[in-house]
Amino acid sequence: MIYFDNSATTKPAQEVLDSFITVSQTYYGNASSAHRFGLDADQILRKAHQQAGQLMNVLEDEIIFTSGGTEGNNLAIKGIALAYQKRGKHIITSQIEHPSVLNACQALEELGFEITYLPVDQTGILSVDTVKQALRDDTILVSIMHINNEIGTIQPIKEIGALLKDRPTTFFHVDDVQGFGKVELDLKGCHVDLSTISGHKVHGLKGTGLLYVRKGLRLFPLFHGGGQQTDRRSGTENLPGIVSLVKAMRMILEHKLHYPNYLQRLNKQLRTQLKEIPNIVINTIENQAPHILNFSIPGFKPEVVLHALEERNIFVSTKSACSSKKSDESAVLRAIGLTQDRTVSALRISFSYQNTEGEIELFCRVLKKIIKDLSKVMG
Ligand SMILES: Cc1ncc(COP(=O)(O)O)c(C=O)c1O
Repeated sequence: MIYFDNSATTKPAQEVLDSFITVSQTYYGNASSAHRFGLDADQILRKAHQQAGQLMNVLEDEIIFTSGGTEGNNLAIKGIALAYQKRGKHIITSQIEHPSVLNACQALEELGFEITYLPVDQTGILSVDTVKQALRDDTILVSIMHINNEIGTIQPIKEIGALLKDRPTTFFHVDDVQGFGKVELDLKGCHVDLSTISGHKVHGLKGTGLLYVRKGLRLFPLFHGGGQQTDRRSGTENLPGIVSLVKAMRMILEHKLHYPNYLQRLNKQLRTQLKEIPNIVINTIENQAPHILNFSIPGFKPEVVLHALEERNIFVSTKSACSSKKSDESAVLRAIGLTQDRTVSALRISFSYQNTEGEIELFCRVLKKIIKDLSKVMG
């Protein structure tokens, strides 16, 4: 089996599953309970806060544990919008954000907020100048993703952070769901105020994640309740999930440290071998995120290719179905101005540290044959 759909989700690491089970069995007390079981759970929770803070180079109380990327992005965007609406009602984002950002912004429009959806250039990258020109006195938030989930482009987070650092009334949120553990992001150095991470993209469990929120910021909570996580995210903490998330974060960062160029090597090999296959056009420009590569096979239905690969036990992705209004077109590829023959025929390969050169070799051989066979059928 070859699994090349790691940007959709990853296989949970055994160590992550082990930590989930151990914590579930041993520390099942409610961290808010006053008895020993509660205190033990609370201690583990505090430790998880500390460790997550250390891994991200931020303070422990700057971490809010969530159920994943969608919640993190909603909490950041709606949380800032509702807390600071008296200051202003303008938000800036890009046209190629994940639906959890775009749709949260659209929901805010219904509440009277004004959103600027910035275009990206033909390579899928946002220019800092475009952000600069869109800024207004009433802009309270800029929300830009670090790595695009469909095409793997890296956005100029450092430069946008530098632009915003002298504007204390405009906060900066970065969706780092696809970047964490793959492409470094120095939150403090880039003047990021809020950043989202999801556990299941880094061999953690679904339903786990966190939001970094710079100390001193207010957030209007999505969940009101018992006041857990300093009132910003009520609900009994998912302690086994939280501990397993920290484990997954530690493991992916160790992989990155020990094998710094591994994913780049895989990416380069895939790119070289894809170029040798007739009919393929690569959509991701060079030197972007190492784990994502998007390409089109104009004239071919991507679903047909996907299922033909699946029959040979190879798993890839078409564009994110949820990110396009037209069911068969990638909104991201449309936003970067590709012609329709490319926007409707795209496939995404996304690696993890577990993939190998041999898998790429085999994938390209199989893909070449599928295209050849399908061409014959199509006449
Ligand atoms: C860039 C990006 N942001 C947010 C999300 C949502 O994360 P989750 O699946 O944990 O809700 C995803 C998931 O694909 C993503 O790729």
